[in-house]
Amino acid sequence: MSPVVVLFFLFPTLLVLAVAALSLRNNENGKKRGLNIPPGSMGWPLLGETIAFRRLHPCTCLGEYMEERMQKYGKIYKSNLFGAPTIVSADAELNRFVLMNDGRLFEPSWPKSVSEILGKTSMLVLTGEMHRYMKSLSVNFMGIARLRAHFLGDSELYITQNLRTWRENTPFPAKEEACKVTFNLMVKNILSMRPGEPETEQLRKLYMSFMKGVVAFPLNLPGTAYRKATQARATILKTIEKLMDERIQKKKEGTDEIGENDLLGFILEQSNLDAEQFGDLLLGLLFGGHETSSTAITLAIYFLQDSPRAVEQLREEHIQIVNAKKRRGEPPALTWEDYKQMEFSQCVVSETLRLGNIIKFVHRKANTDVQFKGYDIPSGWSIIPVFAAAHLDPSVYENPQKFDPWRWQTISTSSARIDNYMPFGQGLRNCAGLELAKMEIAVFLHHLVLNFDWELAEPDQPLAYAFPEFQKGLPIKVRRISLIE
Ligand code: HEM
Repeated sequence: MSPVVVLFFLFPTLLVLAVAALSLRNNENGKKRGLNIPPGSMGWPLLGETIAFRRLHPCTCLGEYMEERMQKYGKIYKSNLFGAPTIVSADAELNRFVLMNDGRLFEPSWPKSVSEILGKTSMLVLTGEMHRYMKSLSVNFMGIARLRAHFLGDSELYITQNLRTWRENTPFPAKEEACKVTFNLMVKNILSMRPGEPETEQLRKLYMSFMKGVVAFPLNLPGTAYRKATQARATILKTIEKLMDERIQKKKEGTDEIGENDLLGFILEQSNLDAEQFGDLLLGLLFGGHETSSTAITLAIYFLQDSPRAVEQLREEHIQIVNAKKRRGEPPALTWEDYKQMEFSQCVVSETLRLGNIIKFVHRKANTDVQFKGYDIPSGWSIIPVFAAAHLDPSVYENPQKFDPWRWQTISTSSARIDNYMPFGQGLRNCAGLELAKMEIAVFLHHLVLNFDWELAEPDQPLAYAFPEFQKGLPIKVRRISLIE
């Protein structure tokens, strides 16, 4: 046998042994240094416990892997996940500690495959000054003034346009409809692209390819979802470069009428990001803002079809808003003041996000040795704060598996629950689009409950993939109703 062939067969074994030795060394190093690393198991060489950690389960529970480990080791345990020695935290206090010390004791540590595809200037992976800068651009872009002036009207427009296409008694996947609305809203506000136009459709297809790759197994071979996503990313970046050039040209010619109203105009005016940086920002906002919000809307449709009392109370709230507008002689379009009246709707939003666990956990890495509750987290180890653990903790939320929006009516009296509630993260890296997301869902609920009764056309449930996913896209059947004279 030639040495090359021998090496070919030996290589995987050597790799496994090397990684096993590395994991062992990390552990041994910890022990030698007298560190009190939390209990747990490092699992298989190379793979660790990644497969068990990623095993599918309904997103309204923690899944067998977490439940077993928590029973055996407690809320803080060690493991080997995504190729790194890792502390998994189901402890709300440690989760908050990690997020509040972002940039000091901890930094983001997404698996290399995710950070490569999102881009090196994606906000999810950036740290320090550049992160602060990109965050401030995004937060300004989605500040209350813009929500009032642009996003509210646009949300209502795209939602009503979409709901008009719903056909009675013809089942359709609710997730797909929610995706259309949130995608259209984002591309209109980021690039002034209109729904249905060929360029928008082209971008949507590329983005879908990109999105599949972000959550796919990171195998960069011809034909894999990951490879297709890297290609889609390159094409999207080229498209953006072209749009930037066109916009700059139009500005020079004085023919740019709408530029200032979208993110591209805002970036060209207020910053000096290049096309790749803008591309990473755009992909981050599309990724952060499109998949999450459409999943939240779909989850609300799912939870509400099983809670007629909540639908009834929503209807009362929204009929009152419409009637009050009529009495005041106002046009029917929702205003910011109307949105602020949607108090019970906000309880439905909060409960949907708690029970739906859209972002179940995030990835961080310790910059230095950190001590917490008597345990040591060694420098360089990953830490995975699992937000869902606190959201589903029976000592915090009574009957946590129950969809109970009314529990949020008394939340101000119980700050413990607020501290345990992190659907949008916390601290330096908290969600830049949280106000936009809450508004989009509430406006969607307004038009949904006033115009439709709905039921599941087939059984389906949300499973915890990278995001909660309905295997059939949540097929629903609707009936039009008319509650407003
Ligand atoms: C229900 C919908 C949403 C949920 C549950 C959600 C959740 C989150 C969470 C948990 C984080 C923190 C990630 C971390 O700590 O590593 C985050 C960050 C972020 N989100 Fe959202 N998000 C939602 C909607 C949106 C929307 C609509 C946008 C914008 C259009 C957006 C943009 C972002 C951005 C840019 C970041 C990164 C912030 C940073 O790194 O400082 N999100 N989101």
